[in-house]
Amino acid sequence: MTATLTRAPQPVGAITDRLNTILANRGIDPTTTAAHDPAPETVTALELADARIPARYRRALADHPQITTWADQIAHAGRPGPTGPGIAEGPSLLIAGPTGTGKTHQAYGAVRALLTRGVRLRWEATTSADLHARLRPRAGHDGERELQTLARCPLLLLDDLGAAKTSEWTEELTYRLVNHRYEHMLPTLITTNLPTAELRTALGDRVASRLAEMTERVILTGSDRRRTAPAI
Ligand SMILES: Nc1ncnc2c1ncn2[C@@H]1O[C@H](COP(=O)(O)OP(=O)(O)O)[C@@H](O)[C@H]1O
Ligand SMILES: [Mg+2]
Repeated sequence: MTATLTRAPQPVGAITDRLNTILANRGIDPTTTAAHDPAPETVTALELADARIPARYRRALADHPQITTWADQIAHAGRPGPTGPGIAEGPSLLIAGPTGTGKTHQAYGAVRALLTRGVRLRWEATTSADLHARLRPRAGHDGERELQTLARCPLLLLDDLGAAKTSEWTEELTYRLVNHRYEHMLPTLITTNLPTAELRTALGDRVASRLAEMTERVILTGSDRRRTAPAI
């Protein structure tokens, strides 16, 4: 059995009259229009991202030519989307250099460079020491899920790789993370204090070999900016 509409169609004028009567009974003048809310402040992707960037690097500008070239390349390769290009597969960078030469500054600068180029960006950042702490097995915490989130994220900043104490467990964790990004060619910004020759010893051959293929090396030199810059 199918349901049928039994009520006779009503002319629009009659409905308007009834509405006006209801409004009048409630003391509302039907001829006035609702006041418009003030236009919401436009929050740009860069402003939203800035809130997630640590304060020290919130205004970081990547001025290293290899990094600006990389950002251009990633922005151009972006998948078209309704609100701007989304990030696609692409090359990764290994930013290496002694302490205080500006590796983290350049890495956050690279994230900001993509955002200013209008790339719709889902990104995550972690230091390798934090990564180990975050993923350490503990009750009520799904470390595996968190690893998958970092591994699959369109852009990952892995800061200070090789600086944390390693064990078989951390080596396996780093391997799984790097291997996923290697296999799926997901852009990854990696910073490290380690000279190339020491990467293999610190991270294991499987990780070092994948990094050699998937990353372009950016070498930063100079003195420790923390010791030469005025204190802020
Ligand atoms: N290009 C730059 N312009 C201005 N300040 C910088 C620049 N690069 C680094 N810094 C500052 O120097 C300090 C050390 O930089 P950081 O990126 O943390 O070094 P690293 O990660 O190599 O140890 C920070 O205070 C950072 O803000
Ligand atoms: Mg750093």
